[in-house]
Amino acid sequence: MMQLLNGAHVAGAVSCLAQLGIPDLVESGPRSAEDLARETKTNPQALYRLMRATACVGVLAEGPEGMFSETPMSAVLRNNANPSLRALAIMGGRDWHGRGWSRLEHCVRTGEQALEQIYGVPIFEYLKQHPEEGRIFHDTMTGLSMIDGPAVAAAYSFDSIHSIVDVGGGHGLLLATILAKNPHMRGTLYEVPHVVDGARNGPLTPVMNRCILTSGDMFSSVPAGADAYIMKHIIHDWPDDVCISILTACRKGVNPGGKLLVVDAVILPGNDFSPGKFLDLQMLIFPGGRERTEKQFRELFTAAGWKLTRVIPTAAADSIVEGVPA
Ligand SMILES: C[S@@+](CC[C@H](N)C(=O)[O-])C[C@H]1O[C@@H](n2cnc3c(N)ncnc32)[C@H](O)[C@@H]1O
Repeated sequence: MMQLLNGAHVAGAVSCLAQLGIPDLVESGPRSAEDLARETKTNPQALYRLMRATACVGVLAEGPEGMFSETPMSAVLRNNANPSLRALAIMGGRDWHGRGWSRLEHCVRTGEQALEQIYGVPIFEYLKQHPEEGRIFHDTMTGLSMIDGPAVAAAYSFDSIHSIVDVGGGHGLLLATILAKNPHMRGTLYEVPHVVDGARNGPLTPVMNRCILTSGDMFSSVPAGADAYIMKHIIHDWPDDVCISILTACRKGVNPGGKLLVVDAVILPGNDFSPGKFLDLQMLIFPGGRERTEKQFRELFTAAGWKLTRVIPTAAADSIVEGVPA
């Protein structure tokens, strides 16, 4: 129990280490706290204590004479790592994140999400109004897509799909990964206008000759006439009625014989550990969504005119929930 209760301290320390860029600075060899403090403009004693703490959970290693070196766990926090979890670690330490989690009890008592109550606007509007937080959020999504993108592209055969729309595709790494692996395909990134702007010159650059970027509002419509609609970490953001609107828009747009591919964690019944069960709480606190079981996905699909055909596991935490027009 003490270990579990200490979890917030561990996450906070790792977040601070990533924010200061320490994992990047030890890439080329061991460094002392004094040396690193000079470069990061931090207090040498305090920085030493931070690194000593993270080293005891495997994030850096303290060698003789107080020299700290890279470990596999610190390496994934580097900016240039692939996958890089640096932005995810930083996001966990941001004010809005901490304030949201501090309202978990309110969310559990009321079923309401917290962010709107704290800042007066829904999360994606907040991220739009605060460009630095938006940048960290989208870098986090891109970092996670370095894991999920290859896993999805490997787990699913896109042979019969010639055109695909990535609904709420962020800066486009998932779509770029799928297009790179499937040269017969063309893709559309569909996002809100300011995120489309952020996606230009992003991960889609190498496949831009087979890709278009379009902005709009997925709650009312999506670009029509595609063989498949894919959406990763979209359905888990929203309550059922909103999801049904998104999936209905895709149902209207899809070509005959086309597919719906929802990429999310699928919650397994029982007590087995699943990171999705904690991500589910984050969805409760922030946008107001939830992670779902296969049965809950089946019901959503049915309500929007789709038939759930398969749940395909991937090498990452997400599964691909496939549907066809009912
Ligand atoms: C959790 S992120 C997932 C991003 C991306 N699919 C991924 O997995 O990295 C949710 C995305 O939905 C987008 N979004 C929110 N509201 C939207 C809307 N009304 N229409 C289109 N996209 C929207 C956000 O801008 C954000 O990029």
